[in-house]
Formats: sequence, C-alpha cells, structure tokens
Amino acid sequence: MKQKKKLKVGVLVSGRGSNLQAIIDAIERGEVPAEISVVVSNVPGALALDRAAKHNIRSIVVDSKAFENKDEYEAQIIKAMEDTGADLVCLAGYMRILSPEFIERFKGRIMNIHPALLPAFPGLHVQKKALEYGVKYSGATVHFVDEGTDTGPVILQAVVPVLDDDTEESLSARILEQEHKIYPQAIKLFAEGKLKLEGRRIKVGKD
Ligand code: GRF
Repeated sequence: MKQKKKLKVGVLVSGRGSNLQAIIDAIERGEVPAEISVVVSNVPGALALDRAAKHNIRSIVVDSKAFENKDEYEAQIIKAMEDTGADLVCLAGYMRILSPEFIERFKGRIMNIHPALLPAFPGLHVQKKALEYGVKYSGATVHFVDEGTDTGPVILQAVVPVLDDDTEESLSARILEQEHKIYPQAIKLFAEGKLKLEGRRIKVGKD
C-alpha cells in the first residue's frame, strides 16, 4: 500500500521550548502524522535546542543579533526551512516579528501559539495584562500568521478560568498546560488537511 507522505514541520523558537517539547511528544506518541524537519533558534543556547538534540532532531541557530539586515537574517531561516522540505512553519515562543516577505513565501503555512484568547490581549506580557484588566477567563489560541501581530485566522482556542488569587506565574502555567494540548492538535488537523479557510473563519472538516 502506498504510504501517505508525512507532513514536515519546521519549528522556530527563541527560548524554553516547552511547546516544541509538546509537539515532539505528541508526534512520538503517534498522535500527529508529522515529523519535525528542523528547529531554528534565533537565540544561541536556547533550551529548545537541547530538547531538539535529545530527540535527534536537526537544529540550527540563526542569531538574529548577528545580522544588521533583516532580509539576510530571514534568508537563512527560509533556507533552513526549504532545505529540509518544511511544509508548515510553527512559531513556538519565537520572539521576533516575521517580515511580510517571509509570510508571503509560506502563505497559509505558518502557525503561532499565543497565551490569550485572541483578539483579546495580542502582543507581549499578556497574562499580566489579562490580570490587570480583570477578565474572568483567558486561555490560549493557535492561529495562522498574517502580516499583523497575532491577527491571523484562529484555528483552535482553549479557555481557562482566572482565579482570584492568580499571579502572572500561576495563570501562565494554567494557560501553558492548554497550549501544550491545542498546538499538537492544530498541527494534526493541518496534517490531515482538515482546516478549511472561509473568509477569515477556519472550519474543521470531517473525515
Ligand atoms: C508560550 O506561552 C507561547 O504561547 C508564547 O511564548 C511562550 C513560549 O513558551 N508565544 P515555550 O518556549 O514554548 O516554552
């Protein structure tokens, strides 16, 4: 029988890499029909790189600080993605804004995970902002990346309660637990060709 081609995922990271780990673990458990073709970190020494190494996943560092020119910097990332045949680019705690050219090149094939219920609280330090605002629920969002900051079509969301005694740390931890579930799920749906874009709504197709 002809074996279906596995989706190849390139993961872009800057730090801790717990979402990368969740994706690796879900793939290893056989829950996501994909393989990670490369992990690219813009930060030398990021913990995410150790995680990749432990699982024999190819990784490279493209140090964003070593480039004056963003095009040249991103050209290295594009090369890593294309050389390894990445079909999907997943941002997992990647702390840089992608250029419109990069986004155009991988149009409809870049995902991000964000620790809030978009469109509430885009950008940075969003758990702190959620607490300051006083919302009773927050959560996590996986979305496709477009030219805006955290504005692309929503793929999956998970809701968590905000408790009276929450700190930024406790709320972040509760949200992170959900991130680790919905990011692999979103990649699975993409790999299975089940994400259908209608306008800016994503409908999850059936088998
Ligand atoms: C996560 O909270 C993610 O939502 C945000 O950055 C954090 C990255 O964490 N974009 P990790 O590097 O995946 O552990």
